Amino acid sequence: MIKKCLFPAAGYGTRFLPATKAVPKEMLPILTKPLLQYGVEEALAAGMSTMAIVTGRGKRSIEDHFDNAFELESQLAGTSKEHYLEEIKTVIESATFTYVRQRQMLGLGHAILTGEPLIGNEPFAVILADDLCTNGNTSVLSQMTEVFNKYQCSIIAIEEIPMDQTNKYGVIAGNLVDETDDTYRVTDMVEKPEPKDAPTNMAIIGRYILTPDIFDILRNTKPGKGGEIQITDALLAQAKQGKVIAYKFKGKRFDCGSIEGYVAATNYFAKQQGIV
Ligand code: G1P
Repeated sequence: MIKKCLFPAAGYGTRFLPATKAVPKEMLPILTKPLLQYGVEEALAAGMSTMAIVTGRGKRSIEDHFDNAFELESQLAGTSKEHYLEEIKTVIESATFTYVRQRQMLGLGHAILTGEPLIGNEPFAVILADDLCTNGNTSVLSQMTEVFNKYQCSIIAIEEIPMDQTNKYGVIAGNLVDETDDTYRVTDMVEKPEPKDAPTNMAIIGRYILTPDIFDILRNTKPGKGGEIQITDALLAQAKQGKVIAYKFKGKRFDCGSIEGYVAATNYFAKQQGIV
């Protein structure tokens, strides 16, 4: 059973400035709910109960969001507005939230390594909250925990993307293991290759299940693309031992790290909820 989910949440959110000057990008809402809360709800739906959040300077509102707010609660208690707080209260009561600060932005791999004290020596999930995923009752992370139960190694979610976008993603090559569950054993992975250097158009999206040996590998991983410590490079070391499975998930993903994806997600959820 995977119990813990790690959320790297220390990035600057440069593409959303000025909105992200004082507000963490993970707290930007799709309708009324912050991106990070969607991620936490996905982890809860997959049976996880510890949310390990790697934050950074200027991210205190994340901790406040997943905590009681006595003044607000007592103001709303017994009024017709009390129900507005119900959803977040359920989330807060269903999980334990733990935090560590990443002091320097040295890449996604470094953020994950920073989370090691919150995880310990057990397999864990990673959600990048700006990849917002939705799939009715079976969340992407729930699908991945099933794949993990079968293969007992690191699992990454993948999606086919247009070839001209390979430089925005980690890209994999692999051999089909089982077409009934859309799984591939990964043979190669490259972080953000130009289309001409990309092995395929199968892109990694922001959902991972990692075995804890990844921490030692990350400790020894040299800076890669963009001078950052890349999780893609560390996973390649596991893949070389045949220990990474890529899974073509079922569902929709919105890249809420881009304005277009953010708008598309907003429109999608507004339609779903009958708002427009
Ligand atoms: C990160 C990873 C990349 C992955 C992507 C998914 O990149 O480094 O391999 O494909 O997330 O969203 P980022 O989007 O943080 O630049």
